Amino acid sequence: MSARGRFITFEGIDGAGKSTQIDFVATRLRERGIDIVVTREPGGTEIGEALRELVLRQPMSARTETLLVFAARAQHVEQVIAPALVAGRWIVCDRFTDATYAYQSGGRGVPEAAVAALERWVHPDLQPDLTFLFDVAPDVAAQRLSAARAADRFEAEQRDFFARVRAVYLERARRFPARFVVLDGTQPPEAVRAQLGEALDRWR
Ligand code: TMP
Repeated sequence: MSARGRFITFEGIDGAGKSTQIDFVATRLRERGIDIVVTREPGGTEIGEALRELVLRQPMSARTETLLVFAARAQHVEQVIAPALVAGRWIVCDRFTDATYAYQSGGRGVPEAAVAALERWVHPDLQPDLTFLFDVAPDVAAQRLSAARAADRFEAEQRDFFARVRAVYLERARRFPARFVVLDGTQPPEAVRAQLGEALDRWR
């Protein structure tokens, strides 16, 4: 029997620069001979990707949005994450439940207790082992986003929405210091990569 794999997640407000760094982490882990699965939320399964399209494009209530991200997560945990971890593979996941606390509770005002109840139902025994939080001020993130493609429902939100999302992320990083590594996303990508590499080496 192989040992359980590790579960690594990436978080941050839109435009924080996390996506460009996920490839770097994946490459670094593969170089160490680790068998990894790179995936994302909402998404990671056929149902999850279909739900992602709805969540990113269709106007809906905050409650519906919360239920749909957890519906996608339920399928993702059962079909992809849990089996991989049991098989000893590592998961590198672009966002997980911290994003629901930050976006749906912090950003949209859904009660934290509602998110916590869904979390207990959908993944009672599963938490990330390591979470990289890419932290940037909403102004910096907005400048990066405006240069990119057409905005989805979240990217189109105002600065104060992202300020609330960021505040919840930072609060969770303080509350769970054993698994969070906060990275300064305003630094150039090479500097962020160096911080990531050090954190991964410390953690091995
Ligand atoms: P991405 O652009 O980083 O792939 O994330 C997609 C969007 O989905 C992003 O704007 C954050 C949002 N999101 C939530 O609002 N709640 C969640 O639980 C997750 C996983 C993502």
